[in-house]
Amino acid sequence: MSGERILLVEDDADQRGLVAGVLAAEGYVVAEAESLAAATAELARAPVDLVLSDWKLALGEGGEQGDGMQLLARVRAEHNGTGFVMVTAYGSIAHAVEAVRAGADDYLPKPFDRGALLLAVQRTLRGRELERENRRLAAEVTDRDRLVDLIGRSAAMQQVFRRVEKLAGTEATVMLTGESGTGKELVARALHRLSRRAHGPFVALNCAAVPESLAEAEFFGAERGAYTGSDRTRPGKLEAARGGTLFLDEIGELPLPLQPKLLRALQERRFSRVGGTAELETDARVITATNRDLAEEVAAGRFREDLYYRLNVVAVEMPPLRHRREDVPLLIAHLRERFDRRHASRTAPFAPALLRALVEYSWPGNVRELANAVERLVLLAEDGRAKLDDLPPEVTALPGTPGPGRGASRFQLPAGGLSFEELERDLLGQALQQAAGNRARAARLLGLPYKAFLYRLEKHGLATAEGAERAGS
Ligand SMILES: Nc1ncnc2c1ncn2[C@@H]1O[C@H](COP(=O)(O)OP(=O)(O)OP(=O)(O)O)[C@@H](O)[C@H]1O
Ligand SMILES: [Mg+2]
Repeated sequence: MSGERILLVEDDADQRGLVAGVLAAEGYVVAEAESLAAATAELARAPVDLVLSDWKLALGEGGEQGDGMQLLARVRAEHNGTGFVMVTAYGSIAHAVEAVRAGADDYLPKPFDRGALLLAVQRTLRGRELERENRRLAAEVTDRDRLVDLIGRSAAMQQVFRRVEKLAGTEATVMLTGESGTGKELVARALHRLSRRAHGPFVALNCAAVPESLAEAEFFGAERGAYTGSDRTRPGKLEAARGGTLFLDEIGELPLPLQPKLLRALQERRFSRVGGTAELETDARVITATNRDLAEEVAAGRFREDLYYRLNVVAVEMPPLRHRREDVPLLIAHLRERFDRRHASRTAPFAPALLRALVEYSWPGNVRELANAVERLVLLAEDGRAKLDDLPPEVTALPGTPGPGRGASRFQLPAGGLSFEELERDLLGQALQQAAGNRARAARLLGLPYKAFLYRLEKHGLATAEGAERAGS
């Protein structure tokens, strides 16, 4: 259940027992106190998410006095992240106003029923959660979050940074793997920039972009007359990268006939131009990248095993963006500035609702896709304000994200109608699957309060692990 901790402070034991019962039944963990002294002791013992306090309190054990307002002052001074709901006596609206002025999130006039109690509690907890979330989203890029042009604060990216720093000082042949748009090329450039070769050339060759007939000349160069119409000698990339770094992008696309030739050149550090006999030397450091599973390509006979081992001396795997969502706000701040510079615009930091939508999306195209979305937001901003409606539809199409495309036409009711119960069950299953079983995330995907989500899970018998599995299959 919800598990949020509430400190209930009330001098009337009967009343306190009643309220505690209602809150506990909702899944809250309730601590109780009757006086300011007892409440203070409880706060010092363990942090709470919310204090629900009566205005009037009992005398403390030592006979010391204190009321809800003093408790509120203490909470604001020492536990400012904690929610506070003041319970006020019948008709004392002045107290309510005073409490809210002093920093209470809400007030609850006596007598109150279960509904009013839960509403005040839920609203306050949700408000506090949003505030925490907004603070988290308002990220700023610090030196620690940056390596050359790479940005990342997540543990996964920090690990990549440490690896890159370590490898940069070596001559190791590095293979970069990871989905498209995860920053493999940036890592290759960072490895170069941080190495002793930084003053030498960084030469990139995209193996997928070279026609097979020209590939050999691209790598090794061609002597004059090697091809019809080649009227001058042209150096290849291996030659151009001398003293520097040769970055072979999409190495999985390297034509099979070329593979033994490249292997030989890398092993012997010698090669000849097409149509030439002279042996040339190269000392280029080689870094490769692929978004394919090269081991699989090897198994399928599409990539030579010996070359694979020669290239895959050390691997660095780039984590997909959806596995490091905490980097998204940071990347947004960085990209917003990048595109503001490029387009000579000045876009204000994005509003929380917009940031939330961007953090929630799964970014199948990773940072490249995020960069495109941010550039579009910057370009379409009005008065420097980026708008939620300018997000691509697939980003906002996510349930739980307010925004465009949520109109009536988005969900088409089939002509024959449908079973609402089945639809609900199906959506719950999908959300659980998309959230990899994380219920809090699944609830957010559906835009449901956690408890409402759990209630529906139970209703459909999906609250157990097997139930959830059945829904996912
Ligand atoms: N960690 C990061 N910090 C800042 N920008 C990043 C980061 N990762 C990627 N980018 C940006 O995202 C875009 C894509 O990055 P990059 O070209 O390095 O990806 P890639 O892994 O080589 O993709 P592909 O496999 O499609 O070639 C670039 O604009 C790059 O600047
Ligand atoms: Mg690339």
